[in-house]
Amino acid sequence: MKYNRCGKSGLLLPAVSLGLWHNFGSVDVYENSKNIIFHAFDCGITHFDLANNYGPIPGSAEITFGNVLKDGLKTHRDEIVVSTKAGYKMWDGPYGDWGSRKYMIASLDQSLKRMGLDYVDIYYSHRPDPETPIEETMMALDQMVRQGKALYVGISNYNPEQSKKAFEILKELRTPCLIHQSRYNMFDRWVENGLLEVTNNYGVGVIAFSPLAQGLLTNRYLNGIPQGSRMTKSEFLKPSQLTNKKLTQITKLNQIAEKRGQSLADMALAWILRDKRITSVLVGASSVEQLDTNLKCIDNVNFTETELQEIDNILNS
Ligand SMILES: NC(=O)c1ccc[n+]([C@@H]2O[C@H](COP(=O)([O-])OP(=O)(O)OC[C@H]3O[C@@H](n4cnc5c(N)ncnc54)[C@H](OP(=O)(O)O)[C@@H]3O)[C@@H](O)[C@H]2O)c1
Repeated sequence: MKYNRCGKSGLLLPAVSLGLWHNFGSVDVYENSKNIIFHAFDCGITHFDLANNYGPIPGSAEITFGNVLKDGLKTHRDEIVVSTKAGYKMWDGPYGDWGSRKYMIASLDQSLKRMGLDYVDIYYSHRPDPETPIEETMMALDQMVRQGKALYVGISNYNPEQSKKAFEILKELRTPCLIHQSRYNMFDRWVENGLLEVTNNYGVGVIAFSPLAQGLLTNRYLNGIPQGSRMTKSEFLKPSQLTNKKLTQITKLNQIAEKRGQSLADMALAWILRDKRITSVLVGASSVEQLDTNLKCIDNVNFTETELQEIDNILNS
């Protein structure tokens, strides 16, 4: 594994991190979830990313992770970085959603209980809240650090303007923002329009989520929609997203990957990691084999100008 410094902090994160959004809920087979996590750790993936609502059912990914800790991973607590978040709807009533101090603090207490941990390494505001003063959300994050329930704080899904504000407030509070978690993959390049400049100026790291576009940027859907794939079971990836245009793009990207001697998944991850402002790619996996494939991305993150141009041409076609 290769470890990258997270912004200007003291923390190193693995170039490939593992996310527990899908495949680690109470609907999934525990042994498989545990094997993926253990295998990840054995391969040097030291960072595991969660959120209060991951499952399904919401909260159950944290319970699964807590069980994996109990089943052995906890003896390595000081060798891993665990993150969780609050920001999306988690419980009924007016205090289980968005970014109030009330929600942010109660949610972290619940997450810690589910995982059986005294503290998380990174606590995130999962999304900006247009109704709550940003100061209130940031002060709640800062308070969690001061109470020892989190070591670092991060923000996710904040646009460049909102990020700047959050970074300024956190700087003033002397709990500098460690990391920004944003969607970034070949099909969704919004971070290139200002966000990466802002994070870089403030010395904040960036972790790219859904770097494989939930599996579209792999060989998963090259020959149809396999039973059991995310597209057959998740409301977040629908068959309507696999348009003819997309399939043509994926097929052409796969040809470039083959020429580079990489799988499409590895090329898609390497393409993100080619930018030194990116600290880590945050992948998902439903099997140990997928994870093994994805880990090979770090072997070649260099692209020629011609390759980059060819990729851009495909993505713009
Ligand atoms: N902050 C946020 O708002 C936010 C939002 C989304 C995600 N995230 C974080 O980012 C993490 C990753 O997101 P993601 O799961 O969408 O990432 P992703 O890496 O883009 O997609 C993962 C999925 O792609 C398929 N896949 C992965 N490797 C493969 C391979 N080598 N060959 C074939 N298929 C492969 C698997 O789907 P199958 O099930 O089909 O096998 C896998 O579950 C999440 O777990 C979460 O921690 C954060």
